[in-house]
Amino acid sequence: MEIKSVGVVGAGQMGNGIAHVMALAGYDVRLNDISKDALDSAVALIQKNLDRQVSRGKIEEGARDAAMARIQTTLDLGDIAGTDLVIEAATEREEVKHKIFEAIVPNLADHTILTSNTSSISITRLASRTDRPEKFMGFHFMNPVPVMQLVELIRGIATDQDTYQSCLGVVESLGKTAASAEDFPAFIVNRILMPMINEAVYTLYEGVGNVNSIDQSMKLGANHPMGPLELADFIGLDTCLAIMNVLHDGLADTKYRPCPLLTKYVEAGWLGRKTQRGFYDYR
Ligand code: CAA
Repeated sequence: MEIKSVGVVGAGQMGNGIAHVMALAGYDVRLNDISKDALDSAVALIQKNLDRQVSRGKIEEGARDAAMARIQTTLDLGDIAGTDLVIEAATEREEVKHKIFEAIVPNLADHTILTSNTSSISITRLASRTDRPEKFMGFHFMNPVPVMQLVELIRGIATDQDTYQSCLGVVESLGKTAASAEDFPAFIVNRILMPMINEAVYTLYEGVGNVNSIDQSMKLGANHPMGPLELADFIGLDTCLAIMNVLHDGLADTKYRPCPLLTKYVEAGWLGRKTQRGFYDYR
C-alpha cells in the first residue's frame, strides 16, 4: 500500500522528531496532542531543528519551508484517523497507549496501518485491543530522531506481510535503516542498552565511580558518543525506569532489577534534561 499521509499522536521528544523526518521526506503530517502548548513547542522545535539543518548545509531552504507547510497540528484525535499510517508516540505507559488506540479505532479508515513507537511494550498486547492486529506493528525510532539512522520494526504475532512491507518502505523513504525485531520485552536496542544504563546507575549507587568517572570511562574507554548517565538524562529517567520494569516483569529475571537509585531519582521528579535535573544539573 502506498503511504502518503502520516498521523503522529504525541508531540513530545519523539513525536516532534517523527513529524520532522516524515514531513521532510514528503509525507503530509498531522500531529496530535492533548496540549496546545505541547503542539506549539513541537512546531517551534521542528522549525529550529530544520533551520539548523539549513545552516549546516544539509538541506535547502525550500525543503525546510515545504516540510513546515506539510505539518498540520490538531488537538482532535479524530483528525488523524483518515491518514494512511498512524504512529502513536505518547508517553511510555501502557494504559495511556490502550486509551489512545481505543479512542481512535472507531474513526479509523479501513486501510490505515496503526503503529506504536513504544520502546518496550508488547506489540501483540497493544494490537489485541484494536480492531486490526494484522495491520498493527511496532515502529520504533531512536532519539534524536532526525540524527539516528535506525528504526526498529517489530511484528506482533498477527502482523501481516503487507503491513510490514509498507512500513519498511516508509523507513527506506526516510533514508533510514530498519532492523527487524521479534516481539519480546524491549525488542533489540533497549534489551541491550537499558541493562547497560541500569548497570551504570548501580556502579554509581555502589560507589565504584562517580558520575564523571563513569561517563568518561564509557566515552573514552568504549568510544560511546555519550556516557551512560548522560544518555539516561537525555532519554529521560522515567522512560529508562519504565523500560527496566517491562524487562523485569516480562522476563522474570532478577538481572533486570531496576537500580533503587534510578527509582529514587524518578520519585524525586529528577527525570533528566526535561526537568533540568537528573544525574547532571542543567539549571
Ligand atoms: N535534533 C536534530 N538534530 C540534532 C539534534 C536534535 N535534537 N541533536 C543533535 N543534532 C544534530 C546536529 O545538528 C549535528 O548535525 P550535523 O552532523 O549534520 O552537523 C549532529 O546531530 C551532531 O550534533 P552535535 O555536533 O551538536 O553534538 P554531538 O556530536 O555531541 O552529537 C548526538 C549529539 C547525536 C546526540 C550524539 O551525542 C549521540 O549520538 N548520542 C547518543 C544518542 C543515542 O544513543 N541515542 C539513542 C538513545 S536510545 C533510544 O532512543 C531508544 C529508546 O527507546 C530509549
